[in-house]
Amino acid sequence: MKILDTINALQNWRKSIAHDKSVGIVPTMGALHDGHRSLIARCRRENDICVVSIFVNPTQFNDPNDLATYPVTFEEDRAICEAEGVDAIFMPQYGDLYPDDYRYRVSEDRESCLLCGAHRPGHFDGVLSVVMKLFNLAQPRRAYFGEKDWQQLQLVKGMVDAFFMPVSVVACPTVRETDDLALSSRNRRLTSDHRKKAARFPHLLSTDASAAEVARLLKTDGFEVDYVEDFRGRRCAAIHCGGVRLIDNLPAPKTEDR
Ligand code: PAJ
Repeated sequence: MKILDTINALQNWRKSIAHDKSVGIVPTMGALHDGHRSLIARCRRENDICVVSIFVNPTQFNDPNDLATYPVTFEEDRAICEAEGVDAIFMPQYGDLYPDDYRYRVSEDRESCLLCGAHRPGHFDGVLSVVMKLFNLAQPRRAYFGEKDWQQLQLVKGMVDAFFMPVSVVACPTVRETDDLALSSRNRRLTSDHRKKAARFPHLLSTDASAAEVARLLKTDGFEVDYVEDFRGRRCAAIHCGGVRLIDNLPAPKTEDR
């Protein structure tokens, strides 16, 4: 497995791959868990070459404390990638990936302002910009994204369509713990008490109650609620649990069931 830590190394490696080979990419911010692992395994199965990027992308963090405390576990990440048969890990430095210091960016000006975007200004510009850079560098035929970040998935698909980018975006189902909490790198920051309590989040989200009622029940349980909203057939929510931001989404309940 190659560790590519410069743009040059990635470009040279990419050039060495024969044109008839398919390249799949799994963009990540590291601190890999079984959710990432399911994307990597699928990428491995469906492509000749599988590359994982690990880059904690500062332009998508609107909260400096969230960026400063984002977990970094490179040795474990490397072992997971090795075990999954990944061909290369791409892990650039900020200055290499942003030679313009983010003067140029990709921006979507409707749906990126809703849901998470309403609470994290600029977040999705950072996501779309880094994903476009990764696609331009790795030139993948397929790219794997989790439904856990449903709004991100929709916006990446929208960007690919809007700019006629020659890549298929593959949506992968959310991987959950046995108590149904969605796996997330941020879960490591939960204390054991908050971790137990966090299981209420997917539980309440999966009921047939209205979105407003779910928000009320989450608040009664002591969570700080950013939003619970039904949007394009999905019930999406973000909460804070012991200072850790958690997001999740499920198919929205049919209104006639209520
Ligand atoms: P990160 O949070 O590391 O997630 C990388 C990919 O793993 C995303 O597509 C995300 O949806 C997926 N993922 C995370 N948890 C998952 C789970 N429990 N089940 C299934 N898939 C899961 O998302 C990002 O990084 C960044 O925004 C990125 C796209 C890399 C751009 O910086």
